[in-house]
Amino acid sequence: MKVLIVGSGGREHALAWKCATSPRVTEVLVAPGNAGTAREVKVRNVPVQATDIDALIRLARTESVALTIVGPEAPLVAGLVDAFQQNGMRCFGPRRAPAQLEGSKAFAKEFLRRHHIPAAASVTVTADTYDPGLLRRQRTPIVIKASGLAAGKGVVIAQTAAEAVAAAEAMLAGKLGEAGREVLIEEFLEGEEASFIVMADGSHVLPLATSQDHKRLADGDRGPNTGGMGAYSPAPVVTPAIHARIMREVIEPAIQGLAAEGMPYTGFLYAGVMVARDGTPNVLEFNCRFGDPETQPILMRLQSDITVLCEAALDGRLDQVQATWDSRAALGVVMAAEGYPDAPRSGDVISGLDLAAKLPGKIFHAGTRLSEDDVVVSGGRVLCATGMGATVAEAQRIAYALAGVVHWPGALYRRDIGYRGL
Ligand code: AMP
Ligand code: GLY
Repeated sequence: MKVLIVGSGGREHALAWKCATSPRVTEVLVAPGNAGTAREVKVRNVPVQATDIDALIRLARTESVALTIVGPEAPLVAGLVDAFQQNGMRCFGPRRAPAQLEGSKAFAKEFLRRHHIPAAASVTVTADTYDPGLLRRQRTPIVIKASGLAAGKGVVIAQTAAEAVAAAEAMLAGKLGEAGREVLIEEFLEGEEASFIVMADGSHVLPLATSQDHKRLADGDRGPNTGGMGAYSPAPVVTPAIHARIMREVIEPAIQGLAAEGMPYTGFLYAGVMVARDGTPNVLEFNCRFGDPETQPILMRLQSDITVLCEAALDGRLDQVQATWDSRAALGVVMAAEGYPDAPRSGDVISGLDLAAKLPGKIFHAGTRLSEDDVVVSGGRVLCATGMGATVAEAQRIAYALAGVVHWPGALYRRDIGYRGL
């Protein structure tokens, strides 16, 4: 069978690499892919953008693609899966209606409330209903969130009321475009964060291995929020007891609630959870896709054939399959371009990849492209150096050994990925 992966990041490189290891798969197409997928065995990039739904349908039809897996949120929220289904093609991901869980934080909040799923208290405002007095009366820190998709730039944790007012007003004034038309003012939650990612088939759920991401740019979890600077699996914060609580209090009511509301959820579902000191799993956000960079360490540990799992989900048989995991830990360190996240610099040539290929672990590409024989930087998050080892410390050592042989001017990465798991 031929598989199509939609997207061009590190998550998509990992998905393509994993699908290519399946003996059932003859070829993996990636639209549009990156330099890493271009060089992967059994994988071919096609120059079709992830948001060009019509072109993706034509591609899948011309190439007789048997299974499409969608990486990023934008095409899911835009209705890519609905369009594939209307054309009789199999595509793993949520349809447009349930993808609103990520596409609209206001929608997600209302949904959480209706189904009594634990989450931070919040109010949603628009330019018409906004009242700065409300912000001045709140305890700080306070969290200001754009409701729509904002590519990781939609959340501000304000330490003072003045900062909160400035952030809310900038969003409502159009700083983030349509994404900030509605703004959530949310209670700040304490605790330890975990990424809880499952596969769902509309009614059944298959939880994937647990993971934890480092969202902040700088060591010690300081500095601005990013898309994620590194991740590891498993996450010790998700003990068996916490795992059971997240399944019972978050995932099961979400999947059942969506089905009951007439929008059954098929695809990867990612709950960003803040585990409170008493163990309450408060939902920070839902993503309608696999995490990036969580995908890289999680898929490195997956021993099952991911195409079999996706097909079981598309057939509504997820309760009849199991995922088996390597018991070792995996850890990925994101290497970013100078200036990330605000203004990453593109065009620098990356060296050392041939040497890295001879070492244990794997470098997944994200913002890279081929230029003649060179691999050059073409995005903010550039590579994810991923290692696997008996312990988180060993996986970390392998990942940093890989990162250490790869160079380009201004490359930046955290030195402490996984510290909470050591
Ligand atoms: P989100 O995109 O909603 O997950 O927000 C991005 C990051 O901001 C999260 O991963 C958390 O680290 C942080 N964050 C979001 N909401 C809250 C909250 N209510 N309390 C504390 N931290 C938060
Ligand atoms: N790593 C966080 C995300 O994928 O949203």
